[in-house]
This record gives sequence, structure tokens and C-alpha cells, in this order.
Amino acid sequence: MPTNLFWHDFLVHSNPRIMTKEKYAFALFKPHTIFTLLKNFISFVTLSFFKVRKRIIVTGGAGFIGSNLCDYLLKNKHEVICIDSFDDYYDPKIKWKNISEALTKPNYRLIEADIKDIDNIQIQLEGKFDAIIHLAAKAGVRYSLKHPVGYQESNVLGTKNILELAVEKNIKQFIFASSSSIYGNTPTPFNEEFKNLQPISPYAQTKLLSEKTGKEFSEKYNLNFISLRFFSVYGPRLRPDLVMNKIATSIYKNKKMKIFGDGNTSRDYTYVNDIIAGIIKALDYTGSKFETFNLGNGKPIKLTEILSIFEEETRKKINIEFVNSINGESDITWANNNKSKTILKFEPKTDIRQGIHNYLEWYKQNLK
Ligand SMILES: NC(=O)c1ccc[n+]([C@@H]2O[C@H](COP(=O)([O-])OP(=O)(O)OC[C@H]3O[C@@H](n4cnc5c(N)ncnc54)[C@H](O)[C@@H]3O)[C@@H](O)[C@H]2O)c1
Repeated sequence: MPTNLFWHDFLVHSNPRIMTKEKYAFALFKPHTIFTLLKNFISFVTLSFFKVRKRIIVTGGAGFIGSNLCDYLLKNKHEVICIDSFDDYYDPKIKWKNISEALTKPNYRLIEADIKDIDNIQIQLEGKFDAIIHLAAKAGVRYSLKHPVGYQESNVLGTKNILELAVEKNIKQFIFASSSSIYGNTPTPFNEEFKNLQPISPYAQTKLLSEKTGKEFSEKYNLNFISLRFFSVYGPRLRPDLVMNKIATSIYKNKKMKIFGDGNTSRDYTYVNDIIAGIIKALDYTGSKFETFNLGNGKPIKLTEILSIFEEETRKKINIEFVNSINGESDITWANNNKSKTILKFEPKTDIRQGIHNYLEWYKQNLK
């Protein structure tokens, strides 16, 4: 055997049709070959052991809804690529805690990146993907009234970037997290067929604009854009700025709670697991290239009633201070779920008392 030749010279320059034992041995011990064989073996074992079903990108996967969704997908043997910037709208430590268990799973990968910097994301994504579930956004209606620009950048430009990524990577299914807030003060119950939507906050406007951009992309490219309009989601890992977290904090940390208005505003509170069930249904929806669906509980409840349920569940009194209401928030949100029930077979299962009970159990376990 010509020991003075490198493997490449040996294989290329000697007669290629004659594969001698020496050549096999040479090719086999090439470091790159060993690495590739090992890599293929590991992914074969991982795929067969975990029976990976779909490869799904979840943006905003470290947040409240995103981390619950990723856990569900992982448990159901999907491969999850989570993209999150750990935005500081609320403490990023909470988000790291949200994904602490997911990080230990072999079918989970975190890409810590901002959707505004799409080149950085693009170079980190390899292979084919079945779907993108786009949840990354600056959330929070009130904060958007003071900081509208950041909302436009992350929510509108960021969404356009993720849509371009989907086109570039040939990803057919695009699920978008929209919001009940885009209906503004239109008549209730909110219906997807309403044409004259009147969003009354910068946050809501960014969601409506993103839906329009998604529609344009779905018409121009080979892409299904499914917009899911979430209604006041609550449950374990709830965002700290949302009202149920404020109520629980006021109860367990003996803090006075400020209520804007007289407590008569109503919200269609929807438990996070029901929202996840809706997202999963939408993953398989291919009936049209662009569609909007309400995902709500269908039963609006006044804030005063929510406060009473918390008091009953904890057997504690809430120390409330009523202050003037602020603009930008609707008086009532109420989902007409007929479309999502008929087409997606979406069926919210968690009634408000059970949902609050579950949330409080989680809150107590995570109380510091
Ligand atoms: N929670 C609700 O009641 C509700 C209601 C309607 C719609 N939504 C929508 O659902 C989605 C998830 O909401 P959530 O309550 O889980 O909020 P969240 O703030 O907990 O999650 C959003 C995640 O997106 C990430 N993010 C923000 N800007 C980013 C950027 N530029 N690049 C990458 N990541 C970024 C954040 O770090 C965060 O982890 C959002 O799009 C929100 O607008 C939520």
C-alpha cells in the first residue's frame, strides 16, 4: 500500500474502479468519514428512539405561551427549535426558568437571537422544517402606548423577517399568534368575518398589520398563513404584567392591588392548554392559504368576578385600590368560536375556576 500518499490521492489517482481492501480501510479511517458515520448513527438512534414526528420552529418559545407549547411538542416527540431574544419587557430570568427542563431534552434546540437580526438566525438553521409557530413579539397593550416604536420593530418588521425566512427555507405552514385586541371596541361576540376592525393600541395595530403582511405572503408564495387570535391567555408561567399574576402577588405578598376602572371590564379568559390544543389543530390545517381563527373560551367574565374566584380559592381578601381607567383597552373581549370549532374542531375544555385553581397551584410552588 502506498503509505506516502494521502487518502485523497490514493483514492483518486489509483484506478477508481478497483476498490481494494486497503482502499476501504483507508476511506473508513478518514476522520471525516468516521465523524459522518457517528453523526448519522446518533441521529438514527435519536430519531428511532424518540420517533420524532415534525421539525417545528417556535419563535418566542421561552415566553409564557411559547414555553408551555414547546414542552407539549417535546412530550409529543416533535423536534423543536426555539428562537428567543430573552427580551427585557419582563425579567429574562423568568424565561430561562421556563425553558430549564426543555433544555435537557435531546429533541430541543435553543437559538438565542433577535428576529430583527434575521441573518444571524438564518445561518443557524440547517435542514428542512415542517412549520413555524411565530409567537415572538413584544406583548402588553399598556406598555405599547408609551413605547410604540419597539413594538413596530419587533412585531411588524420581525414578523416580516420570519415570513421571509419561511419562504427562503420553503416552510409551508406558518402559524401566527394574533390577538383579540385587534377587534378593539367592535360589537361582541367578536367574529373573524368583521371587516372594519378598530385596534385601539399600537400593540393591536402591529398584530393587524402582521396579519395583512401574512396574507400578502400567502398569496404570493407557497405558504399557508394561519392567524390565531388568542383571547386573554392564562395559566402556569403567566406573564408578570398580566392581571391574574397581579392578583396572586397581591394575595400572597400582601400588596395593594391597583385596578384601572371600576372592575366591570370583561375578558374572555382562555386557559393556556386550550390555546395549545388550538395551535396543534392549526398545524394540520391546509384548507386555505390564509385564514384567521378566534381561540377563546367563549365566556367573558368581569374582573370583579375573577377577584371573587381568587378570594374563594385562597380564602384571603384582596386589598384593592381602584384608579382611573386608561385608554387603549377594550371594555369587553368575547370570542365567537363558531369558525374554529367547525373548521379546526377547537374545543376549549378548562372552565375558569379550574384554570385559576391550576394557576394558583403553580404560583404557590414558584413563590419566592
Ligand atoms: N398572553 C396573552 O394573553 C396573549 C393574548 C393574545 C396574543 N398573545 C400573543 O402570543 C404571543 C406570546 O405571548 P406571551 O404572553 O407568551 O408573551 P411573552 O412575552 O411571555 O412571550 C413572547 C416571547 O417573545 C420573545 N421576544 C420578544 N421580542 C423578540 C424579538 N425581537 N426576537 C426574538 N424574541 C422576542 C420574548 O423574549 C418572549 O420570550 C405574543 O405574540 C403575544 O402577542 C398573547
